[in-house]
Amino acid sequence: MYMLHKSCGGFCHILGLPKAGVRGIMGEKGGKPCRIFHFFTTEYGVASVILREVPYRGEAYIHIQEAAPEHLQEHIRQCRDFCRAVGAEHIYIKEYPGLPQLPLHTQMVQMTGTAWVDREKLCALFPVTQATAGRWRAYHNQRMAGVDNAATLEAREEAKIADSGGAYFVHRDGQLLGIGWMEDTKLLTVAAEPGQGERVMHSLMSLVEGAQMTMEVASTNGRAVTLYQRLGFVATRPLDSWYCLD
Ligand SMILES: CC(C)(COP(=O)(O)OP(=O)(O)OC[C@H]1O[C@@H](n2cnc3c(N)ncnc32)[C@H](O)[C@@H]1OP(=O)(O)O)[C@@H](O)C(=O)NCCC(=O)NCCS
Repeated sequence: MYMLHKSCGGFCHILGLPKAGVRGIMGEKGGKPCRIFHFFTTEYGVASVILREVPYRGEAYIHIQEAAPEHLQEHIRQCRDFCRAVGAEHIYIKEYPGLPQLPLHTQMVQMTGTAWVDREKLCALFPVTQATAGRWRAYHNQRMAGVDNAATLEAREEAKIADSGGAYFVHRDGQLLGIGWMEDTKLLTVAAEPGQGERVMHSLMSLVEGAQMTMEVASTNGRAVTLYQRLGFVATRPLDSWYCLD
């Protein structure tokens, strides 16, 4: 899935950290500022503060970069106050040594498996173009709205989606069954109509048949984990854990 933390710097799909050098971005809703602060500094430490989902999901994400253990609580409090001040209703924080006990929001997990194709389930793949990127993005955002740590794709990202050459609509008999986005052998995004996940996945896997394919999934996304496991993918690497701060 398209993670928020990486989405400003590359074609990644789940919440994580943006690449260094990107100073911040504007959201598309009414020009409301919606930024990623790579180096948010308090007098107690440094954090990355990701606010880009505030206008869409009311969510903000904090990744502590540096804080002296004795000042960690105060650093977190100031980061949280900042997130609240810009309108975040839910605030999540990435695992960090010394973090107080907090409820788990979700853990990101890398899954890996060999791409294989059930020919019965193979459907037509239509590459996304500049003309269709808006429709693809709308479908993505609608299906991802309830998925933990998934990024909302913004209009300014449509060119990147189309230019990547890896984003597709999946059709059968003139019906849209879902969408997908591949970067080489990495599945960046998949979404499907109810019950169509396998068809969509086999169609996407046909692009890299026989190769080791990977994806990153939120542990709380039971439907996606179930689908990937059914296709033979296994969890190969725990990634970031995110906790509920507010
Ligand atoms: C992930 C997705 C592609 C799976 O499609 P699918 O395999 O056709 O799955 P469905 O959503 O129709 O649900 C399939 C099964 O999961 C089961 N399921 C539902 N909730 C579940 C949960 N929390 N945990 C485990 N299984 C669950 C359903 O009961 C169903 O099983 P059944 O077919 O035996 O009744 C689809 O759910 C989707 O588009 N989700 C939103 C986008 C998304 O999460 N993408 C993945 C990002 S990594």
